[in-house]
Amino acid sequence: MKDETRLIHTKAGRGPVNTVNPPIERGSTVLLPTRDVLYGDGKTYGRMGLTAQRELEQALKVLENAKHCRLATNGLQSCALAIGAVVKSGDHILISDSIYGPTRRFCTRRLTAMGVEMTRFSPLIGAEIKDLIQPNTHAIVLESPGSLTFDIMDTPAIAAIAKANGVITIFDNTWGVGVLHKPLDLGVDISVQALTKYPVGHADAMGGAVLTNSDSLAAQIATCSEDWGISLAPDDAYTALRGLRTLHTRLKQHEATAYTVAHWLQERPEVNQILHPGFASHPEHALWKRDFSGANGLFGVVLNETSERKLDAFLEAMKLFGMGFSWGGYESLLIPCCDQLNRLPSDRIQNRAGPLLRIHTGLESPQDLIDDLSESFDVMARTT
Ligand SMILES: Cc1ncc(COP(=O)(O)O)c(C=O)c1O
Repeated sequence: MKDETRLIHTKAGRGPVNTVNPPIERGSTVLLPTRDVLYGDGKTYGRMGLTAQRELEQALKVLENAKHCRLATNGLQSCALAIGAVVKSGDHILISDSIYGPTRRFCTRRLTAMGVEMTRFSPLIGAEIKDLIQPNTHAIVLESPGSLTFDIMDTPAIAAIAKANGVITIFDNTWGVGVLHKPLDLGVDISVQALTKYPVGHADAMGGAVLTNSDSLAAQIATCSEDWGISLAPDDAYTALRGLRTLHTRLKQHEATAYTVAHWLQERPEVNQILHPGFASHPEHALWKRDFSGANGLFGVVLNETSERKLDAFLEAMKLFGMGFSWGGYESLLIPCCDQLNRLPSDRIQNRAGPLLRIHTGLESPQDLIDDLSESFDVMARTT
C-alpha cells in the first residue's frame, strides 16, 4: 500500500479505554459492519449524536425527571424546536409576555409567517388562561421566573387548565435548570433548557435541550429535529455534561452570593426595587416557595430615576462585573435591559421608577463584588 493510503487507515488496534468521562467522537461518518446496523437505530451518523451526546441526554433526563431528551445547538434553537414540533399552520398559540425575547421573536416572526396565530398573555394570569383558549389553541409557552422581570407564574394551575383543554404546555426552564425547578413534575408537557447557562457554567460553549415524558410528543420532537437537521457538536455536549457534574455545588455558591449582593443593593439610595423571587417582598414569593427549591445568581434591579450620563458612568466604572449577554458562567455580569424590554402596557414593570438592570453574580468573593458596585455608584454620584 502507498503512503497516502496507509496514512488514512491507521486505526487498527483502537479499543475502548475506561476513562471517567466519555470520549469526544468528532465524527460525521461512523463505519458500521453490516447493512442492518447501517440502517439501524444506533449511533450511525454524527448528526444523530454519539457517545457524549447520549450521556448528556441521560444526565439531563435524570435532572428533569424526563423520559425523553433531544439536544439542540443552543437554547433558542431548543425553544424553537419544542414549539415548532407541536404547531402547524392554522393553529393558535399562547405565549407568556415574559418569555425570553428571541423566543418571542421566533413566534412573532417565523411562526406567524408559517400561518400560526399568536396571543401574548400576562405571566400573572394563572387559571384565567382558560378565557384565552380558542378551539384552535394548540400550545402555551411558559417561562418562570420571567426573563428580565422575574415574575413567577402559577405553572401548575396553567398546566392543569391546558391539560383539561388538550393544549400542550412548553416551559423554558433555563433559570430553574432542573435543580431548582422541575416543570414536568408540575404537569408541564415539555421542558426546555439553554444548556449554555448553568450546565455549561463557564461561558465557553452553547447548547439546548428539549425534555418530555410523553412518547408521542417525543416522537414529534424527534421528527422535527430530524427535518430541521438539528444537532449538538460532540465537544459542546462533552462540555455541558462536564458542567452538570458540578452544577449543584456551583448553584449553591451563585445563590448565596446573589442574596448577599441583592440585600446590600436593597439598602442603597440609588436602588428602587430588587426583582428576586426569593425576597419576601417579591409579589409572587409564595408561589416561588411552593414550586422552586432554591435560587441561582440571576436577578433584576430597578434603579431610581437617573440620567443617561449617570447610568453610563456607573456601567463603565465597573471592573469586576462585565457588560455582556448571557449568564450562568463563573463570571459576574451586569447589563441594562430597558432596550430589550417589550411588555404588555398593563405589565407592572412598565411603570417602574428608573432603569432596569439584570445582574448575574459569578463565583467571585461577594465582598469584592459589593466593593465594585459601591465604587461604581461613587463614580455615578460624581457624574453631572
Ligand atoms: C431564559 C432563556 N432561554 C433561552 C435562552 C437562549 O439560550 P442560547 O443563548 O443558548 O440560545 C436564554 C439566553 O439568554 C435565556 O436566558
